[in-house]
Amino acid sequence: MEAKTYESAENQRYGRSDLGVTNLAAVRTAGKDPERLTNRGPSPPDLAAINGRQQQTWGSGDYTQIGSRLVLMSELLCEAVDLHPDQTVLDVAGGTGNAALAAARRFGEVTCTDYVPAFLEQARRRADAEGLAIEIQEADAENLPFPDGSFDVVLSSIGAMFAPNQEQVARELLRVCRSGGKIGMTNWTPDGFVGEFFHATGRHVPPPPGLKPAFRWGTEAGLRELFGDGVRDLTITPRQHMFRFRSPEHFVETFRTYYGPTQKAFDALDAAGQERLNNDLLDLARRWTRAGDGTAIWPGDYLEVVAVRA
Ligand SMILES: C[S@@+](CC[C@H](N)C(=O)[O-])C[C@H]1O[C@@H](n2cnc3c(N)ncnc32)[C@H](O)[C@@H]1O
Repeated sequence: MEAKTYESAENQRYGRSDLGVTNLAAVRTAGKDPERLTNRGPSPPDLAAINGRQQQTWGSGDYTQIGSRLVLMSELLCEAVDLHPDQTVLDVAGGTGNAALAAARRFGEVTCTDYVPAFLEQARRRADAEGLAIEIQEADAENLPFPDGSFDVVLSSIGAMFAPNQEQVARELLRVCRSGGKIGMTNWTPDGFVGEFFHATGRHVPPPPGLKPAFRWGTEAGLRELFGDGVRDLTITPRQHMFRFRSPEHFVETFRTYYGPTQKAFDALDAAGQERLNNDLLDLARRWTRAGDGTAIWPGDYLEVVAVRA
């Protein structure tokens, strides 16, 4: 048995962890037959409930320790959208403020949003340390609290891609961007390291049935479906972010300790399950590393996306 006992009645019934995943081992433990559930036909996922659980999941980590290693992606994104001083800029799912700070360094008039208040506080401290002015506002990417067309530039660096209601997020990104303005995103691709990392985790703690993978945002087809005719120009540039850790063990330990989704996946497993997940993630890091000196260095593929609002 891999699953720990879940506290809430809902978790006991459906074997769901806070990660927003359904753990089939827990379904079996609760005396349900997952195949019979499947034969009844999949019911559509409750996207609002998943969004709520994911919010807790992100908030349970210390994203500062992860985000500070991803600064370059946001710096490059601001160059890709050719940010001009005094443009109004919104950072969606901004975490601890990477894209917001990159935009503020270019004299953008920036609002940083996320649905984890502690991350935004960290963004504020980082801005203060650099003497940069940014607004922070708690906001769900699926329901942005801004009027239509409020921003010249809307950014989201590996952020909005994780919200479960993808169509709604796409509508919101388009809605708050003025006509002729730009939407800039970075999105991990499904077949790169991060895709494999989530896939490996999902083998132990599977995602909710019917949920569209976040990596849809990391494909051209997915982006065209999601933005549709809301954009009149779409430039997609494949890029790589280099992961650099002291060792494969250091990588796994860092993610296990600080990255909410990984931390919660481990929390959902018993000791034996945790060891299996740990070993799988270690294998992954060992397979991907190209450092050759015992350190762990490999590329993470992502798409850098610049869309012009129709
Ligand atoms: C991988 S982190 C990226 C953070 C930041 N953009 C960066 O570049 O480091 C994903 C972020 O998305 C946020 N997030 C996920 N779903 C969200 C939603 N529905 N609304 C607001 N924020 C969300 C999480 O809280 C987290 O801060």
